[in-house]
Amino acid sequence: MNREEIKSFWNNNIFPNYLQSGGPPTLELLSKIRHRVEIARLQKILSSAPKGSLLDLGCGSGRNSLDLAKYYKKVVAVDFAKNQIKQLKSESSIQGVRNITAICMDILKLKLHDKFDVVFLSGVTQYLSVADLSKILNLIRKCSKKNTLVVSRDTLNLGPTCFNKSSKVGAIYRSRESFTLLLNKKGFINKGFVSAYFFIYDSFFKRLGLKRLPDIFLRPLLLLEPILIRFYLPIIKTRKFLLKTTFNPYHTFSTWQLRPHSF
Ligand SMILES: C[S@@+](CC[C@H](N)C(=O)[O-])C[C@H]1O[C@@H](n2cnc3c(N)ncnc32)[C@H](O)[C@@H]1O
Repeated sequence: MNREEIKSFWNNNIFPNYLQSGGPPTLELLSKIRHRVEIARLQKILSSAPKGSLLDLGCGSGRNSLDLAKYYKKVVAVDFAKNQIKQLKSESSIQGVRNITAICMDILKLKLHDKFDVVFLSGVTQYLSVADLSKILNLIRKCSKKNTLVVSRDTLNLGPTCFNKSSKVGAIYRSRESFTLLLNKKGFINKGFVSAYFFIYDSFFKRLGLKRLPDIFLRPLLLLEPILIRFYLPIIKTRKFLLKTTFNPYHTFSTWQLRPHSF
């Protein structure tokens, strides 16, 4: 993984709407809906953790930090793309959010002395090699308390781990099993996997050969076109297809806690 390329990619990919920073939707409204669904699920996952402090590693322009800041006394948000941090700072002042400390830094060089109740990563581990992920897990260990919850939102592949070249910088999409193995090795035990959102989404449209979601909105009857149905029906019928599309298994929240004897 080339960190300079990743940094420059995210420095130059600033969406006008800060909520859009986390992923592929091209429609502003859809980004907002997806973000709301994700935050609701996150809140449920985080409900068992104390509401003291939250660390958001690879925060982007802070869509998660900004929403979660309402529930925490202190949020520390870190990203190495300075334009993302700039957008987070400007959005914080627009929204009057004062409890976020935004740090522009490579998380692999980060040294923290504080302990956090929650450590959150979203869309970040895909940019970390096994060695780098292991370093980040060491950092998380250092800033964890006994009951700290670690929540990671990742593109977890249904099949084997693969390197996705479709984005300019590329990303590792790990299988759930290999991701679990890596975290287990560092003493983190899994507390559950939750899909980030369920509604039929871009993977469905991608599989139908449509690159952009708006096409379907512009032509809602497209799905009913007989040729399309005749061509795709056999595929649609397979369970794998349904699993891979309707239940969008890619964006997944996984929750972790350090094994008790790690302390
Ligand atoms: C897919 S975006 C996700 C942003 C945000 N967490 C969200 O969910 O909307 C990934 C972010 O991770 C950041 N990132 C990747 N590797 C990083 C590193 N080594 N140090 C700091 N930030 C990193 C990128 O700059 C980018 O903003």
